[in-house]
Amino acid sequence: MIVATLPPLSERALASELVQYTLTAGSVRFSPVPGLNFAGLGFNGTIPGPLLRVVHGQRLRAKFINKTGQGSTIHWHGMILPNKMDGSEGVTQPAVPPGGSFLYEFSPEPPGTRWYHDHVGDGLLRGLFGMIVVEDPRDQRADAEFALVFHDVPKMATVEPAMMGVGSAPMVDPLGSPELTEMAPDDKMGDEVAFSAHCINGASYPNTKRLAVKVGQHVRLRILNANPTQTRYVRLAGHRLIVTHSDGNPLPAPVEVDALRVGVAERYDAWFEVGAPGAWLLQGLSTDPFAYEQAAVVHTEGMENAPPLSSPQSLEGADYFTYLKAGGTGSAMPPQGVKHYDFILDDGKYGSSRWTINGQTYPNTPRIDVRRNDLVTVRFTNKTDMDHPMHLHGHVFEVTEADGVPLARPLPKDTSLVRANDGTLSWRFRADSPAGRWLLHCHNAIHMMDGMMTEVVYAI
Ligand code: C2O
Ligand code: CU
Repeated sequence: MIVATLPPLSERALASELVQYTLTAGSVRFSPVPGLNFAGLGFNGTIPGPLLRVVHGQRLRAKFINKTGQGSTIHWHGMILPNKMDGSEGVTQPAVPPGGSFLYEFSPEPPGTRWYHDHVGDGLLRGLFGMIVVEDPRDQRADAEFALVFHDVPKMATVEPAMMGVGSAPMVDPLGSPELTEMAPDDKMGDEVAFSAHCINGASYPNTKRLAVKVGQHVRLRILNANPTQTRYVRLAGHRLIVTHSDGNPLPAPVEVDALRVGVAERYDAWFEVGAPGAWLLQGLSTDPFAYEQAAVVHTEGMENAPPLSSPQSLEGADYFTYLKAGGTGSAMPPQGVKHYDFILDDGKYGSSRWTINGQTYPNTPRIDVRRNDLVTVRFTNKTDMDHPMHLHGHVFEVTEADGVPLARPLPKDTSLVRANDGTLSWRFRADSPAGRWLLHCHNAIHMMDGMMTEVVYAI
């Protein structure tokens, strides 16, 4: 069966060996909605930056030129690459100074939907991010494919108060979401960032690019949540979505859902069949009054101006993606690796500027010291009232347990949400990446800047 889907080998051979890009980071005046004039930063003049594509097996050479006026780097999120190409400021390289440049060169591994972003200061918040697709020649062919970056324009003045734990921005998760149902009614939020516009690929509805499809097509969506702090639920009206990849990595089995639940920095590949002519909205769901802006019309020929079918801004009654749905319930708790770590995620109380791992903030957090080929397990326990999208650089780990339930089929990922209020999540990974220092952190920009970070360090 796998053999039948393999394209001829010549296709890979035809590809040129080296793909070269120049990525220049600089100021961008970003106005996705009338009246908004965001002082952003972007790669090659756009937010998000250009969609980069390479075929698995090709080498990528990306010349980075920094014209932002501040230090910057490019981190290749989800890639296993030489440590010095990882773009972690202060860990794998110093920040590229204003006016400076840096040559990133590596063979992108593994194939799949990945992304790239600044890893210094507020660059990611201000727009320095983009998607990179490493095409897998063994993948099932899509009749049409769309790469979609869901992103939002932060109110930069709310970032500092959120870091101090005294912000006043509300939660905007949709009704029926675990984020809302888990909140105690008297809970005082101090850590949310507010947003002034919601976008897909650099535009807000109704100015988002229309996605033209044909009846009978099997369509692939590659979806990234580039919001710096919020989980995003994504739904295509009138369709079920078949999820095949998490963070670019093939799932053990496809899973069919009404909606995706995409944590900060997560990616999902989801497919749908076009069964009949029509026009439907692909939407990011939230209770923000401007949530409708994060939508794009999917339409068949001649239906581009038909009023599109939409979904309510609610998850009530919707069957959305969870790790448990994708992995199934296992019979036994996963065994611990030769190196096992228990990480308690805590603090972030109202008025606190600390988000901690085992009571400490980076760089005083406990680090994971590994030797080549160690099997490492990490179990997170979340004592806070917010989910944490925990990310590991330079590796693909497997999620083996969530909230006390072992998964029958572990999920290959690089970022995974640890549920609030005593939620747990377990990872397993092999220390077989290039040697060096690999960051492990919460991808909520506020939590990361407030210390929820550590490192996996190889003793060579
Ligand atoms: Cu998306 Cu430290 O990375
Ligand atoms: Cu967090």
